[in-house]
Amino acid sequence: MRSRLLGIIWSLVFLAVPVLGVATFAVAPAFDIWLPENVSEHGPTVDGLFMFILVLTGVVFVVTEGLLFWFLWKYDAAHAQGPATYRHGSHSLEVVWTILPAGVLLFLAIYQMNSWADIKMRRPAMSPTVEVVGRQFEWRLRYPGRDGMLGTPDDLFIVNDLHVPVDEDILVQLKSADVLHSFFLPNLRIKQDAVPGMKIPVWFKATQTGEFDIVCAELCGWGHYKMKGHITIESREDFDSWIEKKYAEQESTQPVAEPSDAVAIAD
Ligand code: CUA
Repeated sequence: MRSRLLGIIWSLVFLAVPVLGVATFAVAPAFDIWLPENVSEHGPTVDGLFMFILVLTGVVFVVTEGLLFWFLWKYDAAHAQGPATYRHGSHSLEVVWTILPAGVLLFLAIYQMNSWADIKMRRPAMSPTVEVVGRQFEWRLRYPGRDGMLGTPDDLFIVNDLHVPVDEDILVQLKSADVLHSFFLPNLRIKQDAVPGMKIPVWFKATQTGEFDIVCAELCGWGHYKMKGHITIESREDFDSWIEKKYAEQESTQPVAEPSDAVAIAD
């Protein structure tokens, strides 16, 4: 009797894993712990892939956990007809459960290839909109000045306050001044490591105006948690007037650089 009770309790504990697991995902949107609002042109593709993989792995998870529960329930000690027998496995079963996941992984690898190319390989042909340099513990931004070129004396320097125009291709030139950081724009479905010694291009097109987070997604030192900035997506007119305002502020507080300084500032 006692062993039957134990069998029931254990199998129910194991049944709770898939039930609670699925319930977590089901209630997550209601508690606002689901994906943040997407405001990026390529976002739906990324979210689609995420959902596809989630459902695929979710179904396998529920089925295997369900089987585990069923075997615990049916073959507990109270029902045992004698000691368990051991077998040396089944060759064909091994082949099947090796080839099946391999096939699924191969399918995913091919299925996502075009999205990957759009986000990481097909860089828009343009000069960088802004240079972002991660450093402990802030995001340093450099906009090309009136000459439209980065690395010249009229560049505009800003910290943590990224502005970009909506509905336009944005090309970020990402660098790091010290250690590994990760430039993470959750609402734009962008995450890219900033690697010391490398200039990494990152591009996106924002589809909605608003203010969103920039966070660092790589443990980069004691102040990692506070390495936050924000991105403001605004109309082209608002963006231009913001740039003009910042530019005027910078010029009023700094002496105008001599042309010979260009060599020192350029990278
Ligand atoms: Cu930079 Cu974490």
